[in-house]
Amino acid sequence: MDIYEAMGSLRAVRRLKPDPIPDDVMDRVFQAAAWAPTGGNTQPFRIITVKDRAKMAVFQQMYSEEWATYTSAMRKGLDQMPDAQRASSRKMLKAGDYLADHMGDTPQLLVFCFNPKMMAITDSDLGRPSIVGGGSVYTAVQNLMLACRTEGLGCVLTTLLCFRESEVRELLDIPENWFTCAHIPIGYPVLKGHGPISRRSVDKMVYTDTFGQAYR
Ligand SMILES: Cc1cc2nc3c(=O)[nH]c(=O)nc-3n(C[C@H](O)[C@H](O)[C@H](O)COP(=O)(O)O)c2cc1C
Repeated sequence: MDIYEAMGSLRAVRRLKPDPIPDDVMDRVFQAAAWAPTGGNTQPFRIITVKDRAKMAVFQQMYSEEWATYTSAMRKGLDQMPDAQRASSRKMLKAGDYLADHMGDTPQLLVFCFNPKMMAITDSDLGRPSIVGGGSVYTAVQNLMLACRTEGLGCVLTTLLCFRESEVRELLDIPENWFTCAHIPIGYPVLKGHGPISRRSVDKMVYTDTFGQAYR
């Protein structure tokens, strides 16, 4: 698949079949993650692929609780939304509810762990949320998701389980100095899977010479 086509259709796929994923497919997907650039080439991330059904049931329980909390305000506000926004929010909620109800049935949940001691975090003392460290993990996340796209696998980057990090650490025996930052359920899509995405146009995202000055 052409790389631009893959990027331009990599949408969140939350309805996933329980069918197993062949090992050779997963080998390629993990290779894509390992190819990602990281600060100083330290590769300060590890991926735990969770397949154990008992553990997956615990993940589903935790995720569905966090999803319910996260979406409760949106659900209450649906009636006040403009029509187009209400329609897209309803669609997202329906797909998200499906994931919350079925996460335990997905064939694999990929948990990204990171070790901040292996990172040169150049923005940690600026009095604002630090983000540079994430750049040495989310490059791998994006590579992995693009590989899923190419392999016909659905996937969605989720972060709600970070609220439950202490329980996740215990469940997966994650050692000291390692933390979690992404939980990606993957599987073959129930419906069409990846497809058209809606994003701000380039002229609204890119400036020339000063912040806010038109790109072209
Ligand atoms: C940092 C980050 C965190 C996200 N966390 C969640 C999540 O916890 N649960 C979820 O269902 N989707 C999550 N998403 C998916 C986004 O909601 C989704 O990419 C966005 O709404 C655009 O949807 P689309 O890709 O289908 O167009 C996350 C995406 C990003 C980049």
